[in-house]
Amino acid sequence: MPFAEWSDEFSVGVEEIDDDHKRLLGLLKNLQNAVEARERRDVLGKLLDELIHYTNYHFAHEEALFLRTNYPGYRAHERKHQALTDTAHAIREDFQLSASMALPPQVLEFVKNWLCEDILGADRDFGAYFNALQDSLEAQARPAGEPASLDRHGA
Ligand SMILES: [Fe+2]
Ligand SMILES: [Fe+2]
Repeated sequence: MPFAEWSDEFSVGVEEIDDDHKRLLGLLKNLQNAVEARERRDVLGKLLDELIHYTNYHFAHEEALFLRTNYPGYRAHERKHQALTDTAHAIREDFQLSASMALPPQVLEFVKNWLCEDILGADRDFGAYFNALQDSLEAQARPAGEPASLDRHGA
């Protein structure tokens, strides 16, 4: 089950969101390792719970940022999060009900959708909005005539 490793191409340009995504990919990796090591079902269930718990936290974190920055794409993005959350909970339920040692096949589908729609799609749109907003706030705060600092993203 090939899950993605973090790479800079996944960056959405907002450090605190990137940090969450790195953690999420790390949790997926743990799950993959446990499947390959043929861990017990209760171990897999615990890792799935951890992943779902962190996904919930991450979506709430992003949505708090949307509110704080008056992001106009808030509702549409929130709906995408909701759809992914519903899938994650369905996966957990299926796993609980099945006697199989394998993870439900929707896990892969979930990861694919999450990478394509959330990280590489909607989160990037927010990243562009967020950085444009930072730039305009910094421009407003700068005294007239002063040139833009070149290292403003370096902090
Ligand atoms: Fe998102
Ligand atoms: Fe995200």
